[in-house]
Amino acid sequence: MNKTAPKAASGLFLTFEGIDGSGKSTQCRMLAETLQARGYDVVLTREPGGSAGAEEIRRLVLEGDPDKWSAETEILLFTAARRDHLERTILPALAAGKVVICDRFADSTRMYQGLSRGDLRATVDQLHALMIGREPDLTLLIDMDPSTGLARAKGRQGSEERFEDFGVELQEKMRAGFLDLAEEFSSRFHIIDGAQSIEAVAADVLRATTAALTSDAQALQP
Ligand code: ADP
Ligand code: TYD
Repeated sequence: MNKTAPKAASGLFLTFEGIDGSGKSTQCRMLAETLQARGYDVVLTREPGGSAGAEEIRRLVLEGDPDKWSAETEILLFTAARRDHLERTILPALAAGKVVICDRFADSTRMYQGLSRGDLRATVDQLHALMIGREPDLTLLIDMDPSTGLARAKGRQGSEERFEDFGVELQEKMRAGFLDLAEEFSSRFHIIDGAQSIEAVAADVLRATTAALTSDAQALQP
């Protein structure tokens, strides 16, 4: 293989973040389809989950009573799931030059476990440094009003409602926290207005992604 080919260098690691119901899953799917149609090799994945072991942990953390786990135990569970996902799905795909689109990643732990029940952000960051040590190349934050997001999320119906059951106050806190995080990691974050139509959000998502794919640092070709 030609070692100088841009594709051989490494892929692009893209994450979507935002409150529940902000449109992340919808936009992940649409972006994956658009990039695939343009010839990119895309891996669409999600957290918690994205590998067999991590999907098992997903069931443990997302189903049941809101107070089933303490925030500290959740940090361990989400990080364990992420480590498995990283080892088995994300890193091999990036090494093969693929575009990895991930619905939530470590920023969600920084918010949901780091902020929701006291300030555990330092603990989240320590475990992240120890066990994960990888940040996305680009993070698309879909920002929107929590009551609309929660109404959309509740409209979906399902059994994975532990976090949605924490209510709108938590979502308000998460929204503000995500906006702070976007300032903290401003070089990789891009904020998108989630209150627009699905198509308009998708157009913003594609613009930001195309810029990352064609930047000098990445220059990833289909
Ligand atoms: P998330 O993954 O962030 O929880 P979803 O993509 O599952 O959000 O979207 C939640 C619900 O809202 C879905 O029923 C989806 O069809 C709908 N939805 C997503 N984006 C929009 C939008 N821009 N406008 C209106 N409804 C939307
Ligand atoms: P997800 O399926 O993305 O929910 P939604 O589509 O409603 O946004 O994620 C499920 C829940 O898991 C969500 O409420 C946020 C929570 N979560 C954490 O608390 N910590 C984490 O590290 C991750 C990845 C998710």
